[in-house]
Amino acid sequence: MRILSGIQPSGGLHIGNYFGMMKPMIEYQEVSELYCFIVNFHAMTTVRDGKRLAWGTIQVALDFLALGLDPDKAIFWVQSDVPEVTELTWILNNITPVGLLLRSHSYKEKIDQGLSPNHGLLSYPVLMAADILLYQAHRVPVGKDQQQHLEITRDIAMKFNNTYGETFIIPEAEINPNVPLVVGTDGRKMSKSYDNTIEIFCKEEDLRKKIARIVTDSTPVSEPKNPETCNLFINLSLFMNEEEKADLAERYRRGGLKYSDVKQELFERMWEYFRPAREKRAELEKNLDYIREILKSGAEKAREKATPTINLVRKKVGVIY
Ligand code: ADP
Ligand code: TRP
Repeated sequence: MRILSGIQPSGGLHIGNYFGMMKPMIEYQEVSELYCFIVNFHAMTTVRDGKRLAWGTIQVALDFLALGLDPDKAIFWVQSDVPEVTELTWILNNITPVGLLLRSHSYKEKIDQGLSPNHGLLSYPVLMAADILLYQAHRVPVGKDQQQHLEITRDIAMKFNNTYGETFIIPEAEINPNVPLVVGTDGRKMSKSYDNTIEIFCKEEDLRKKIARIVTDSTPVSEPKNPETCNLFINLSLFMNEEEKADLAERYRRGGLKYSDVKQELFERMWEYFRPAREKRAELEKNLDYIREILKSGAEKAREKATPTINLVRKKVGVIY
């Protein structure tokens, strides 16, 4: 089984990225053929500063490696280092209905937030389809927000197969039902685009400040509280086992619980949870050339895997003559 997923280098990675995508991906390296990449072309739809994009790419690589991704077990590379992906995107553009792209929630959301409706933003899902289909991935572990993008990928793959004959494996999204869409400090989906994230590798003081910012309701301390609707509960429970979660829920319902205590608990759990990764990251950061080497060697392996598919596609569409 081939597992593949990508992440944008558009800002510091947060606990939503970690629980929604990075953790399941890292676990897969032990049992599957794993393809993990940094989607810098996708990030260009929102990042307009070349230095920031290049820096962000290295930062994401550091994050993944520090959290346990092993380049000897997984193929780990940067999207733009395999140029065939843009060729496949162009080919797929020609069978992708504009209506399908206009219906994308993510596109509409970005326009609503004031991003200019350029072509890159609209064709974002076509590039994502090319990412997935080029490597003939079976499963794509993502957070809930990416479900529609995966449906678009499947639609495009089926359309291609119907038009040109069986070519692509139809991939499936893998969304862990036990991982909620992690909520940000303001109660919306945690996202780099909303300035509401709790970053995995931020400084101690910044982490305290971020956690202090988590919005809670104004129920008095003595009153019972509802864990299910509490952002703080949802975030803290990510770091707890079932028994601990049940205990915490009980403390909420009993009354007498102070949100400031729960915030302190979240800080302590999170700081400890990521301690080993933080230490490893500090080591890796000392030799960025080594990180670049890992990425280059990953790109070579990825390119080798992509070659039979792109050759088949070229033949089918008629650009080999
Ligand atoms: P962001 O919205 O912060 O820019 P990305 O779009 O780069 O995040 O997402 C990278 C991966 O992390 C995707 O698989 C996405 O589904 C997952 N992810 C992002 N935010 C969350 C969240 N709040 N909860 C769960 N998973 C998330
Ligand atoms: N759109 C994904 C996100 O924002 C990133 C992405 C790009 C991706 N290409 C991919 C995810 C291929 C999985 C597979 O999170």
